[in-house]
Amino acid sequence: MKVLVAVDEPRGSDLAHQLASEGVEVVAVVAADALALSGEDAAYGSDARITAVALREVEAVILQADRRTMTAAAVALCDRHGVRIVALCAEDADRPLAEAYGLSSTLAPTDPGWRIAEALTLDGLTRGATAASTGGAGGVERERPAPRIIAVWGPAGSPGRSTVAVELALELARGGRRVALVDADAHAPALALTLGLADEGPGFAAACRHAGRGELTTAELERISTPLGRTGVRVLTGINRPSRWPELSHARVAAALEACRTWVEFTIVDVSSSLERDEEIVSDLDGPRRNAATLAALEVADHVVAVAAADPVGVARFLRGYTELRATVGATPVAVLANRLRPGALGIDARGQVRRTLDRFAGIRDVWFVPHDARSADAALLAARPIAEVAPRSPFAAAIRRFVGETLEPPDPGVSRREQRARRIRPARDARRVRTAGADDQAPERSRVRGGRRRGAVAVPEAR
Ligand SMILES: Nc1ncnc2c1ncn2[C@@H]1O[C@H](COP(=O)(O)OP(=O)(O)OP(=O)(O)O)[C@@H](O)[C@H]1O
Ligand SMILES: [Mg+2]
Repeated sequence: MKVLVAVDEPRGSDLAHQLASEGVEVVAVVAADALALSGEDAAYGSDARITAVALREVEAVILQADRRTMTAAAVALCDRHGVRIVALCAEDADRPLAEAYGLSSTLAPTDPGWRIAEALTLDGLTRGATAASTGGAGGVERERPAPRIIAVWGPAGSPGRSTVAVELALELARGGRRVALVDADAHAPALALTLGLADEGPGFAAACRHAGRGELTTAELERISTPLGRTGVRVLTGINRPSRWPELSHARVAAALEACRTWVEFTIVDVSSSLERDEEIVSDLDGPRRNAATLAALEVADHVVAVAAADPVGVARFLRGYTELRATVGATPVAVLANRLRPGALGIDARGQVRRTLDRFAGIRDVWFVPHDARSADAALLAARPIAEVAPRSPFAAAIRRFVGETLEPPDPGVSRREQRARRIRPARDARRVRTAGADDQAPERSRVRGGRRRGAVAVPEAR
């Protein structure tokens, strides 16, 4: 294995000799801050040149990690080259820094070369194994359903795609399932902002780069993702500047999402609204496409959750986009969720009006409703946390719980259908008892299908 040693002298050269005697090929030794400076384009002299050349050929960097050297720029630089970091922390105070980037912090610069060489070979394996083993609760092995990718789409006008995506991830993660939440919105990424996560780290763009080179492992996904508190959800944050959209190419996004199947049971992908393919208006057919990330996510998804704003403008926009959506996803099941339902915007029988309109103009027979619940949504925004955490019994959370139970959640083989239904309904009843003000008459209701109810399957309405 080829490595770059970024450790200050005299320990740098000393460590390089020890590693060489363990069979590790040390390409170069540079100052500990060479990566951080190169990442900020502030490096000069021989260290800058050596670092730039070495990063192209090494598999790992042995980095003396402290506040000066272990920066977002250094980590991003390594991610761009698909190079793993082995952090050596001299002080206890440096350990949280390494852990913040998902790195092991147990090694120190003074550790013998053989121990660091051992970490080099075991590091990827152990973290990959850890990621794979955390799926079972309490060590009990349960049969895993096939991993699934769920894309959350909706037309322009902020119908609530990101909010719904977060809550779906949380609901699916209940009971110890491994869930990833991916921000693939190349126009207006929002998950990091909504959830109070740093968006300077590697995130989904780094996953795409690794996937483009065929090097995206579960260990790497675990490292570049950010845990969402203690929910069990891992977040791949979006691009932190909209101008970076070319990084999310069709092939890379598809490959990165496919790699997520080996990592988690459910991958929830927040995509942008536009489904336009600009092939007809540009001459460079192989050039990057702004909507490629959305199209790729929808194409690889096993299910699509289509979010409509439940008001006259929102429903009209949804109907226009829905035809394009069906053309993009083909036979993939689509579950329609009408969000922010409120009588004020639609008048009498708001729910019936939305249902009849979607049925008449798009043949959508099954619709699930989420009430307008400003109190819970605002409380979540204020706390930068999911609604299910700040208001678990809110009408919003209850509606999402019901939606997940009836569409996305695989039936639990150990539990009868009656008990599963009771589990879903109980929290919803509790929620009604403590219903937040302003959400009256909007308790979630399962949609009725003409001629009876359909249960446990994602609606696949036929487009007309
Ligand atoms: N059911 C709801 N009740 C009240 N407010 C809601 C509800 N759903 C979403 N919101 C609020 O609507 C706003 C827009 O939601 P969100 O950011 O999820 O939309 P989006 O479709 O992802 O928009 P964008 O186009 O920015 O990606 C947010 O402030 C969110 O808190
Ligand atoms: Mg959004």
